[in-house]
Amino acid sequence: MAKGFMGMMSLVLALVVFSAVGVGTASAQAAGLKKEFYKKSCPQAEDIARKVAWGRVAGNRELAAKFLRMFFHDCFVRGCDASVLLDSPTNTAEKNAAPNLSLAGFDVIDEVKAALEQACPGVVSCADIVALAARDSVSFQYKKNLWEVETGRRDGTVSSDQMALDNIPAPTSTFDILLSNFSSKGLGLQDLVVLSGGHTIGVGHCNLFSSRLFNFTGKKNNPSDVDPALNPPYAKFLQGQCRRNLQDPNDNTTVVPMDPGSSLSFDNHYFVNLKAHQGIFTSDATLLTNGRAANIVDKLQDPGVFFDAFKNSIKRMGQIDVLTGTNGQIRKKCNVVN
Ligand code: HEM
Ligand SMILES: *[C@@H]1O[C@H](CO)[C@@H](O)[C@H](O)[C@H]1NC(C)=O
Ligand SMILES: *[C@@H]1O[C@H](CO)[C@@H](O)[C@H](O)[C@H]1NC(C)=O
Ligand SMILES: *[C@@H]1O[C@H](CO)[C@@H](O)[C@H](O)[C@H]1NC(C)=O
Ligand SMILES: *[C@@H]1O[C@H](CO)[C@@H](O)[C@H](O)[C@H]1NC(C)=O
Repeated sequence: MAKGFMGMMSLVLALVVFSAVGVGTASAQAAGLKKEFYKKSCPQAEDIARKVAWGRVAGNRELAAKFLRMFFHDCFVRGCDASVLLDSPTNTAEKNAAPNLSLAGFDVIDEVKAALEQACPGVVSCADIVALAARDSVSFQYKKNLWEVETGRRDGTVSSDQMALDNIPAPTSTFDILLSNFSSKGLGLQDLVVLSGGHTIGVGHCNLFSSRLFNFTGKKNNPSDVDPALNPPYAKFLQGQCRRNLQDPNDNTTVVPMDPGSSLSFDNHYFVNLKAHQGIFTSDATLLTNGRAANIVDKLQDPGVFFDAFKNSIKRMGQIDVLTGTNGQIRKKCNVVN
């Protein structure tokens, strides 16, 4: 009886929360995050999370890109609070917004969460699981951690498709817009360039860049009317991958590796490609249009410099508007608020 009532109340609460967009209490600073936050409360937490992630990535290497991008989307929308994982009864959560194309891996997050709930009920947040999954899945290739993850995030209770639209930068964005979008999250020019290196793994859908390949100026209507920022052989390669935009401007089913030849390998090839004018999106190519950014692209031709720089920038990304201390909650299940 009481249980049924409580269940109903929490459903009502969830509905209220889902519609109360913008009422979240994001704390601006990263105070409360630290290395090995769960050392005492759940010493095995990071090992358990890694074991599940590595097991799943071993069977599907594409998952690394999914989790890296999931972490980016989570952090840019309401801060790193696992809001990207929430389901909405009315399909108005972040995951329902258009920029979600190819967001995936939610089932793996649920599996990690289930394992952690079994070991240490109510202790490890879904927001930390997302941060760990990004690190662990990308690191699988090297069998060692590529970066350190600070933990201690707590979970938010609100997720909104409109906030995803308002906060996820578009692939058509030019440099000043991207810089402004990153600045509004407390990230700088260096972070923008370095984190764009996430595009060294994974795929992009043709409709998001085909305007660069076909009828670019709209004046010539011929296959060579391509974005001059693309190197011609690469443009030809992409034209061959995507259905011709003249007949099918919305080829939203074909995907192309963003780093052809090593799209499963997390390395600095993105910057080698970029320098050769082989950035797939306008948002990639535009990094060469700013002198300071282009300088950083030059430095990142060195793999060692890239790995070091990525460690620092992804740490900063993981601090965006986190909930810590007694803010937010530790969700029992990652796709619903408690
Ligand atoms: C600078 C602004 C950024 C823009 C405009 C952008 C845009 C995009 C777009 C449009 C896609 C393709 C989605 C699809 O077609 O399914 C994509 C994929 C991806 N992005 Fe970004 N992104 C940005 C920054 C980042 C950052 C900071 C990271 C992480 C560090 C990241 C990681 C990824 C990954 C791993 C994929 C591949 C996903 C997959 O294979 O499913 N991106 N991005
Ligand atoms: C992404 O959004 C579309 C609607 O735009 C929705 O149909 C789809 O289920 C969403 N994907 C995920 C993973 O939730
Ligand atoms: C990015 O920045 C531009 C310029 O400040 C702004 O108009 C736009 O709304 C921002 N977009 C996102 C997704 O943050
Ligand atoms: C090419 O672009 C121009 C200008 O946007 C448009 O008028 C024309 O219809 C386009 N051609 C095709 C074949 O889509
Ligand atoms: C892809 O495009 C088709 C036709 O324009 C549209 O009906 C469909 O919803 C789109 N799918 C996605 C995932 O955007």
